[in-house]
Amino acid sequence: MRIEWRISAPTHWQAEALLFFVPEKTPQPPEGLDQWIRRDAQWLAQSPALRDFQGKIQQVAVFYDPGDGPVPRVLCCGLGPPEDFHPERLRMAAAAGLRKCRELRLKEAALPLSAFAGLPCEAAVALEEAVLGAVTGLHQYDALKTRDVEPTSFPETLCLLAEREPEPAVRQAPFLAEAVSSGILLARDLTVAPANEITPSYLAGTARRLAEAYGFTLDVIDLETAREMGMGAFAAVAQGSREPPAFIVLEHKSLETGFKKPLVVVGKGITFDTGGISLKPGDKLDSMKQDMAGAAAVLGLFEVLGKTRWERHVVGILPCTENMPGGRAYKPGDVLRTLAGLTVEVISTDAEGRLVLCDALAYARRYSPALILDIATLTGACIVALGKQVAGIMGNRESLVQRIQQVGMDIGERLWPLPLWDLYFDSIKSDVADIKNLSDRAAAAIIGGVFLNQFVPREIPWIHLDIAGTAWSDKETGAFPKGPTGFGVRLFFELLRRWEELGLE
Ligand code: BES
Ligand code: ZN
Ligand code: ZN
Repeated sequence: MRIEWRISAPTHWQAEALLFFVPEKTPQPPEGLDQWIRRDAQWLAQSPALRDFQGKIQQVAVFYDPGDGPVPRVLCCGLGPPEDFHPERLRMAAAAGLRKCRELRLKEAALPLSAFAGLPCEAAVALEEAVLGAVTGLHQYDALKTRDVEPTSFPETLCLLAEREPEPAVRQAPFLAEAVSSGILLARDLTVAPANEITPSYLAGTARRLAEAYGFTLDVIDLETAREMGMGAFAAVAQGSREPPAFIVLEHKSLETGFKKPLVVVGKGITFDTGGISLKPGDKLDSMKQDMAGAAAVLGLFEVLGKTRWERHVVGILPCTENMPGGRAYKPGDVLRTLAGLTVEVISTDAEGRLVLCDALAYARRYSPALILDIATLTGACIVALGKQVAGIMGNRESLVQRIQQVGMDIGERLWPLPLWDLYFDSIKSDVADIKNLSDRAAAAIIGGVFLNQFVPREIPWIHLDIAGTAWSDKETGAFPKGPTGFGVRLFFELLRRWEELGLE
């Protein structure tokens, strides 16, 4: 979808459909709509259906001009109760509105800036949210369908209508929203596409395409080299698969801030998790193609960095491999030598995420990062604890956890902290090695974090996100569609935008 500004007086507005946002339980239409009705669209005031429109969240009503005015239709998109307002609501409402436009096979939809008047948030924030909702809400993955494909070309254009030249922040908002959306869509496509297509080599290819398009540096480490370098945990997980693994390192150096310590983002890239020798049950096993959603979110972030030419040194580390059973697969009881030097006893080959991540975290040290962020579909236990709409956040600085949690709340990616207290460490002590990769079922999401914590030096701020629940939505919920969510992409970019608030170097 193309996004276009049109600057003219409301009397000259012309569009196949005009979108307005309407809160619930308010007797009067909102400011912008009210003004437009009174000055330019008397017909709408006379439409009895307008009185019936309730403004429930994601409700959309279409009103038709009985005459032949320049705006044949108005779409009112519900925002829900005004007391519950959050910018996220605009994302949901815009997504619903644009989907309606597609259903009606409209070529263009227009969104007047006055639609945001009177809302309790800044115009730039509102516009960014709405454009993000519009673009991500229309997204569908049908690359593999050969019949019954819904046309994706509607609407082709989203016009942003303004009466005068908008202030710079508002001008920039749709550009940023589009950039973030393309990162989210990339992450979603990679996650939903099947594991026979999205192999570690495919992810390396995606990283290469990004590197070529935007000038990032790329290093892809193969199995032999990883083993020689001492990444015994990553190599152990990879050795059971016939599909070659790829330990991908993508680096975005920015000239102006090149001297600053980088942000290092680590994403779990298990392109398919069978559980290995500790084989998973067959039920819903197909869903384990999503076990690379962390890596996909990191690639999504790099798409955003490239599109926005963001000035900040960022390194992405993606340990990518399948986790398969087989004659060469690693086994429960094996002891692995990790890059950090610690030895790890394998209790379950299904706790493979922490094994590939621990070598990636150790590898991250060489960049002297200002912050290491890892993102992983790590534990089913995180879904038990927090559900499908909230990710677990853990880290080695409590205040940092809180600040990042707040950023997540602001942009609609919910995070909730789990403690990494020392008392949990006892349960991963091993009889034969330094630590083991699994304890019992107790506090399993926390234990994942406690394990990873062993591989990050205290002096480096580190955050771990468990997105086992949020990477995939079983049904349409909130601003997330059914299927892969692209969770993390927006959060990461937002952290870069608000870097100063994080109190890091
Ligand atoms: N990839 C899974 C976690 C997962 C579960 C992701 C559901 C997405 C949805 C992970 O590698 C795993 O298998 N975890 C085990 C726990 C581990 C401690 C053995 C699990 O969730 O049971
Ligand atoms: Zn597993
Ligand atoms: Zn896994």
